[in-house]
Amino acid sequence: MTFPMKLLNTIEDLKQIDRNKTLCLVPTMGALHNGHLSLVELAKENAEQVCVSIFVNPLQFSEGEDLDKYPRDLEADLAKLAKLEVDYVFAPDYDEIYNEATQMIKAKPKLTKHLCGLSRPGHFDGVCTVVKRLFDLIRPDSAVFGEKDYQQLMVIEDMVSILKMKVKIIHGAIVREMNGLAMSSRNHYLTEDELLNAGNIFKTLSGIRGEFFTLEEGRDLLENLGIKVEYLEKRWGRLFFAGKLGSTRLIDNVRADKFY
Ligand code: PAJ
Repeated sequence: MTFPMKLLNTIEDLKQIDRNKTLCLVPTMGALHNGHLSLVELAKENAEQVCVSIFVNPLQFSEGEDLDKYPRDLEADLAKLAKLEVDYVFAPDYDEIYNEATQMIKAKPKLTKHLCGLSRPGHFDGVCTVVKRLFDLIRPDSAVFGEKDYQQLMVIEDMVSILKMKVKIIHGAIVREMNGLAMSSRNHYLTEDELLNAGNIFKTLSGIRGEFFTLEEGRDLLENLGIKVEYLEKRWGRLFFAGKLGSTRLIDNVRADKFY
């Protein structure tokens, strides 16, 4: 462990990383919650050193999305990471990540023509581009991504395999609130009533998985609760949901097998 935790802001700063020890990266956009922190714990089990990156990546937000109001609280994030004895936090400015030479990556349509790819054109290209850049700069042995963003995880695994990148991708399980709501930085936008109502998303996914009702019945149930369903479908052995509570877009997924 490197102590105290090192805050790295520039590419130059990355020279401070100890290259004689294994390194696991946890890429994030900050506003850290227990879901993120569980990935850090997993990273610690997988390498001698852990780096968490905090960068709100404009390239993965479409016009009209929440880039400007996306929650940012670097001080609070650093305090949480120091407590977990993270070795490095990489919190770069835009110019460190993007310049005219940055290689833009296009995610494969076979994965992006479904689910979030339909309503968020270019989103996964933005994710791949920033993750590739972070991997190139930080050169981790492994990186942890949460199953909360399952399609993102698949897209990244696909990119790593196509580009033959030498980074092991580790899956982190979804961390939920007491009522089943998957933790998310975007939960900050929800009112108290919406937070309570949002618990019905996981309950509905679990009900469909347990074959207590069908996808169609689940969709009606959520719509009747005032949750506008963008998709609720079975794919890749999982049940996927995206929808809106008020103006907040939420996603979730569970394994589809009945007895899981
Ligand atoms: P962000 O939304 O900050 O999420 C960072 C990581 O935390 C992702 O791998 C995400 O899947 C994981 N995560 C979020 N909520 C979680 C939960 N409740 N349980 C477990 N893991 C959870 O995803 C991104 O940032 C960005 O797209 C990024 C990969 C950093 C590229 O910009």
